[in-house]
Amino acid sequence: MAEAGIQHPRTPVVGVDQRHDSAALHVAGKARYIDDEPEWPGLLHLAFGVSTEASATIEGIDLSAVRAAPGVVAVFTAADIPGANDVSPFAGDDRLLADGEVLWLGQPVFLVAATSRRAARQAARLGAITYGSRPPILTIAQARAAQSLIEPTQRMARGDAHQALGQAPHRLSGQLAMGGQDHFYLEGQIALARPMEDGQIHLLSSTQHPSEVQHLVAHLLGRSSADVTVEVRRMGGAFGGKETQGSLYAAAAALVAHHTGRPAKFRADRDDDMVQTGKRHDFEVDYDVGFDDAGHILGLQVRLASRCGATVDLSPAINDRAMFHVDNTYFLPAVEIVSERLKTNMVSATAFRGFGGPQGMLAIERVMDAVAGYLGCDPLAVRVANLYGPGRDVTPYGMKVLDNIAPELIAKLREDGRYAARQQDVAAFNAGSPVLKKGLALTPVKFGISFTTTHLNQAGALLHVYADGSIQINHGGTEMGQGLHTKVAQVVAQAFGVGLGTVRITATRTDKVPNTSATAASSGADMNGMAAYNAALAIRERLVEFCVRTYGCGAEEVVFEAGTVTAGAEVMTWETLCRRAYLARVSLSSTGFYATPGIEYDRAAHQGTPFYYFAYGAALAEVVIDTLTGEYRVLAADILHDCGNSLNPAIDKGQIEGAFVQGQGWLTSEELVWDAKGQLLTHAPSTYKIPTANDRPDHLSVTLWDGPNLKPTIHRSKAVGEPPFMLANAVLSALGAAVAACNPAAGWPELDAPATPERMLAAIARQKAGARKAGVERGQ
Ligand code: MTE
Ligand code: MOS
Repeated sequence: MAEAGIQHPRTPVVGVDQRHDSAALHVAGKARYIDDEPEWPGLLHLAFGVSTEASATIEGIDLSAVRAAPGVVAVFTAADIPGANDVSPFAGDDRLLADGEVLWLGQPVFLVAATSRRAARQAARLGAITYGSRPPILTIAQARAAQSLIEPTQRMARGDAHQALGQAPHRLSGQLAMGGQDHFYLEGQIALARPMEDGQIHLLSSTQHPSEVQHLVAHLLGRSSADVTVEVRRMGGAFGGKETQGSLYAAAAALVAHHTGRPAKFRADRDDDMVQTGKRHDFEVDYDVGFDDAGHILGLQVRLASRCGATVDLSPAINDRAMFHVDNTYFLPAVEIVSERLKTNMVSATAFRGFGGPQGMLAIERVMDAVAGYLGCDPLAVRVANLYGPGRDVTPYGMKVLDNIAPELIAKLREDGRYAARQQDVAAFNAGSPVLKKGLALTPVKFGISFTTTHLNQAGALLHVYADGSIQINHGGTEMGQGLHTKVAQVVAQAFGVGLGTVRITATRTDKVPNTSATAASSGADMNGMAAYNAALAIRERLVEFCVRTYGCGAEEVVFEAGTVTAGAEVMTWETLCRRAYLARVSLSSTGFYATPGIEYDRAAHQGTPFYYFAYGAALAEVVIDTLTGEYRVLAADILHDCGNSLNPAIDKGQIEGAFVQGQGWLTSEELVWDAKGQLLTHAPSTYKIPTANDRPDHLSVTLWDGPNLKPTIHRSKAVGEPPFMLANAVLSALGAAVAACNPAAGWPELDAPATPERMLAAIARQKAGARKAGVERGQ
């Protein structure tokens, strides 16, 4: 096991609150983002000329007015790309610049390089493009009718769901629609390319995936990967929106640097960024569920349909992850999950925190609520009745749930959050309050950790110990605010028994650690932490060997602790040891590598063990709604979340709070609206509402579950980046409960997400009218 042999310093560096390595720089405005870099002489600024049609052939492009505009230095089209016109992660279908046809409104068609960003943006509007328009496919219904798919419809099943439905004592069916979500990272998309000698390119890119940007830029320019270096010190937020989407801007900047020999910066304007880059997939869900009097699910058929946009991007894996999370914490004895991946003439949907998991999980949480609404019982009782447990512990994809802490975790939150007493308070409040209604809900989370594409589960690190004892660590992961660099530095400091201040973590660079995976799937610390740990172990072993040789002690007598190294009778500072080892010509630099063990997945059959382990959590949310306006507030949220043995509780709590509020935004206020032409209307904060400090629950408490990861991950910690996003499901359930309270006899309301005040008002009206909406009774 990887942990064997580690000596913990008296003051542990790991497992305790440590501030983010850039916290002081962040708050002082001194952390450098790409746009803060001093501008080189001759720097060019870029903008795209974009399509005004959602589906069309390009009949002609007249760029004379663009070229003549003030400040314009060069204008490029697809014909100017020396290599592959491809910025896609794997399918080969994303163009840097449209070639012959456009597939969505806002798609880049030409690229302007000018002396200022303003000049570039103004000139980009002067392009005259003539189109041969085709009717666009925009909605799920249109795509389904046209059988417009990005890949064949997938099916995951166990048992005979159809038969189970037929035999169940009760049966309900219903629909749920949920919207997409813009990433709204504070730092927009940006890249800065510098031409180097002999055709090489150096790129600063705001990307979660430096290796992919490197490879795409190399192919685009007809060069090898060795000619392109990509560097990322930090991103000002990414949330999945820079897993693939940064490539577009990096490729554009590289193309201009390549042709002009001048440095080129592409900093997308916020409105352009929102139009030009992909978002979370919106889903429409149909379910048909059979259950008994106690709410045990006996059979379930779920159809997930998602809008993937015009190209493949990461949609196959995202929709797979949606299927993987339809079970959430529940055992589904007979189940069929069908997943339709619809191709529409919109910007390609992409990764967003949870990567399809939230959409799949929300579906089953609605089923739980609808069953409870139908039976007239407590939704939490239905949830608990269906939890995984002994003898009912295999997922629909055939993986055994070995680490199921959901029952205990839910029980603890139920107790600590005073669920029963508060349900009574809410009922009493509602009985005496005709206009304001409250709702309370407790929902669980179980999230699978690993990339479901097995080969991506590998990471590398490069560690240098300098002769003065200072340490520099570099790894393949990227920092986007989540504290990954801090966690990896903690792991390294602990391995040498030194303080965190001894370790300097540097920018991610493709020339230091090659062939990396995206920092995604929440696995950054799991994988890069372990790779860095392995690098540190290699150096520590050399140092131990040196001590044994020099001081005649046993290997077990060499102890690294609190900045001091004890080697038998010899006691020296860490710095002294490093100096002595250097003089004795001991190598103090090492790479480290890690590949997650024990995972495999047969995608054709949708069976296997795609995850190394699961991360768990639960949230208890309380809301109040105004039944006359549809407005609401989240009054309280109590969260209990599992980070295994947390590497850094302060950072993990920050991740949990942030993810919860971001999830709340997805389910309540963040609404994307496209018009009938396929134009995104909500492309600025004036029309697209992310949660503000005012929307944060008045009471928000986050407690970490106390228990190690069963798997030997780095210090037995668990991934935290995405799982807590889905804790916000409790908010939608609580809103549903408040609406249901307007007329409980009408069952659970059909309430789509985002539950904007408009949708709330409509749901309240339906509820009062008494129509049983979610779950039309059938078949009995
Ligand atoms: N936290 C901050 N502050 N900013 C981000 O962009 N991205 C999230 C999550 N937490 C994000 C964040 C997403 S989508 C993922 S996959 C993980 O961080 C990635 O980092 P990790 O693997 O190191 O957790
Ligand atoms: Mo996160 S959606 O896996 O980048």
